[in-house]
Amino acid sequence: MPNATDRRLWRDISVFDGLRTLPNRMAVITEGAHIIALSPMSEFDEQLADNCTEMGSRGVMTPGLVDCHTHLVFGGSRAEEFEARLEGASYEEIAKRGGGILSTVRATREASEDELLRLAKPRLEALIADGVTTVEIKSGYGLTVEDELKMLRVARRLGDMLPVKVVTTLLGAHALPPEYKDDSDDYINLICKEMIPAAVAEGLADAVDVFCEKIAFSVEQCERVFEAAEAHGLPIKAHAEQLSNLGGTAMAARYGALSADHIEYLDDTGIAAMREAGSVAVILPGAFHTLRETQQPPIASLRTAGVPMAVATDANPGSSPLFMPTLMLNLACTLFRLTPQEALAGMTAHGATALGLAGKGLIHEGAEADICVWDIDAPAELAYAVQPGRLRQRLFQGVLTHG
Ligand code: NIG
Ligand code: FE
Repeated sequence: MPNATDRRLWRDISVFDGLRTLPNRMAVITEGAHIIALSPMSEFDEQLADNCTEMGSRGVMTPGLVDCHTHLVFGGSRAEEFEARLEGASYEEIAKRGGGILSTVRATREASEDELLRLAKPRLEALIADGVTTVEIKSGYGLTVEDELKMLRVARRLGDMLPVKVVTTLLGAHALPPEYKDDSDDYINLICKEMIPAAVAEGLADAVDVFCEKIAFSVEQCERVFEAAEAHGLPIKAHAEQLSNLGGTAMAARYGALSADHIEYLDDTGIAAMREAGSVAVILPGAFHTLRETQQPPIASLRTAGVPMAVATDANPGSSPLFMPTLMLNLACTLFRLTPQEALAGMTAHGATALGLAGKGLIHEGAEADICVWDIDAPAELAYAVQPGRLRQRLFQGVLTHG
């Protein structure tokens, strides 16, 4: 028999199950790390309440949030660049003169693994305090084999020390490091022949990502990285069509990409390729907002095509220094006209799919008890108001970590 504290019961609660808001007010029971009962309040069998810890009533239950795109391990700050952009410099101009991603690369290379861990921990704690139970963390500010592995080790350590599932992504092809200036193909060779194998050997990478853009790597170069990832059995994803339309998304889809991310400049060919491949469109309103982008991602066409849309913070020091997932729900709605339900599905069920974790980010009988309970009356309120402090309870793998 499970002991009394092992079973938890919520009554008369509104449930967003990861894809939709359930029509009835619900009773939910967890036991250990799983949800074992989910039923409309009107059909609730009171006998099931025996041995349960009463967790309260009213409010809204959602799956734990899934932030499927972050770069939260980094050294330094880009506040000066923020000011330069306000004075008119563009993200590309700053990158071309050695600032931008490369400025973070310098600071990240200088920092020790412990120092990076110390800097990243409060950033991840901020995401956790806003409801995140699964987070993806990319490398991409090391750009040497050792510095990329150092970043990934920090990501793994964060997952060991905090109550959150961390998925790691090797983003060696994020920017061309200065040592390889004019030799970008040689750097791609390094990624394919040394970086990916080394990350695989240490079990540090769950996926491989690239930045396919004029200021980063060409479609052909990204394709070589994907071939190497495929040879090592790693799934792939891409930063693509963020600043221009190079066709990186369609190429990534040919490699069965889990996701294409940003995609402001995505065209119909790219959308068709994503639909065909089952790739998730990861919408990053924080970067759109921070860079004062004006090109909207093709939300209506993605919706019509049935391409699932995820929403993530893209938390990073340059294009999205925003460490608040629920703010992204709001921005996805206000900037891109996602419905609040679409935004929430984007940060639960579809966010999980973008990480190859289909089945996570859902509430149903048998699902993992990664759960948030919010002090609101309807799920849409999570996107409607930007208001910290509404997380009433958070369970990670059945363990109450908040509330
Ligand atoms: O997702 N697009 C490229 N990479 C990051 C930005 C990283 C940075 O500016 O430091 C992004 O926006
Ligand atoms: Fe990114």
